[in-house]
Amino acid sequence: MGALSVLVTGGAGYIGSHTVVQLLKDGYKTVVVDNLGNSSEVAITRVKELVGDRANNLSFHQIDIRDKPALEQIFANTKFDAVIHFAGLKAVGESVHKPLMYFDNNIIGTITLLEVMATYGCKKLVFSSSATVYGWPKEVPCTEEFPLSAANPYGRTKLMIEDMCRDIYASDSDWKFILLRYFNPIGAHPSGHIGEDPHGTPNNLMPFIQQVAVGRQPALQVFGTDYSTKDGTGVRDYIHVVDLADGHTAALSKLSDPNIGCEVYNLGTGKGTSVLELVSAFEKASGKKIPLVKTGRRPGDAEIVYAATAKAERELNWKAKYGIEDMCRDQWNWACKNPYGYPTQETN
Ligand code: NAD
Ligand code: UD1
Repeated sequence: MGALSVLVTGGAGYIGSHTVVQLLKDGYKTVVVDNLGNSSEVAITRVKELVGDRANNLSFHQIDIRDKPALEQIFANTKFDAVIHFAGLKAVGESVHKPLMYFDNNIIGTITLLEVMATYGCKKLVFSSSATVYGWPKEVPCTEEFPLSAANPYGRTKLMIEDMCRDIYASDSDWKFILLRYFNPIGAHPSGHIGEDPHGTPNNLMPFIQQVAVGRQPALQVFGTDYSTKDGTGVRDYIHVVDLADGHTAALSKLSDPNIGCEVYNLGTGKGTSVLELVSAFEKASGKKIPLVKTGRRPGDAEIVYAATAKAERELNWKAKYGIEDMCRDQWNWACKNPYGYPTQETN
């Protein structure tokens, strides 16, 4: 049997680029489609540099997944064994102000992709869902059976797409879906060659800490110091992006299990870390002092969120390997080598 072919939507982005490295290392033929709306083609160049000869198995097309004829052309040229679907907008605050933009990009984009997949007989999908679908969980750890809710339009797109996948599977059991609920991905490839490159001011904690450390922001605002947690700050399940990438290759292998239908898995470490603990670990890894400004809670934030990991361990045979120190070390390595993210053009 020849190498399996995988289409990766959003593969130039943060999680996508790390996953593409793993796919190429594992011998998959990989086609990336991305509109580069929140990413840079330099990420693709860097991925190629990281994988040596395997770069021959990677091709990139700058297209929007809502462009059906362009997507059909990609499927007409390659018979895909599966699709990993990262492409989407992900800024919670922006989604509150521009819900239609989020519904158009995330929902219409996914419907277009699923329609083209059906037309070309490719019915295996791994989808990037989020722990955001647990809302403010009534207890922790969050198991996959917890009730689901959406606190904002971004979260609603994740929930709607999950529901769409469940309905499609109910209508046609030839489909196989794996819905991966990511907790909080941070860190970067240990080479420092690829990492997260948010456009504008970051909303998430780790990219903000990084920008303070390299002098792009004066101080970190700590959103809430009165939570019922060990030090009063919010607790999250941070997961190394390389572990997350490995979770995707594990999910792809699971798609060839004849018994799989539409399944959900948490991808987290099962450990909770507070804002102050993460800051302190980052200070240790970087040798930089992160000035803090303690402010009120951010609206919509949950108190404590971390994953139950047993289902992924048991059924995907996958478990996160890296700890907070590794995540901070690799984040800092990426930050030192790329303090302003990817250059607009690769010069070397
Ligand atoms: P990212 O923005 O770095 O990557 C998403 C990629 O999709 C970008 O390269 C962007 O240009 C591309 N894209 C967006 N809309 C597109 C479209 N219509 N057509 C083609 N390409 C398009 O984000 P990421 O952090 O790598 O996240 C990947 C996925 O994982 C997203 O769906 C996100 O919602 C989900 N997710 C991310 C996190 C997180 O904290 N990073 C947590 C949970 C879930
Ligand atoms: C946020 C999103 C969530 C999304 C997730 C991953 C909100 C309300 N939720 O979750 O939908 O799935 O990102 O992309 O935006 N913090 C600070 N200062 C900062 C930034 C964050 O103190 O400048 C705190 C937050 O209050 C929280 C923790 O750091 O306690 C983590 O925040 P963040 O990285 O934004 O992730 P989530 O809140 O988990």
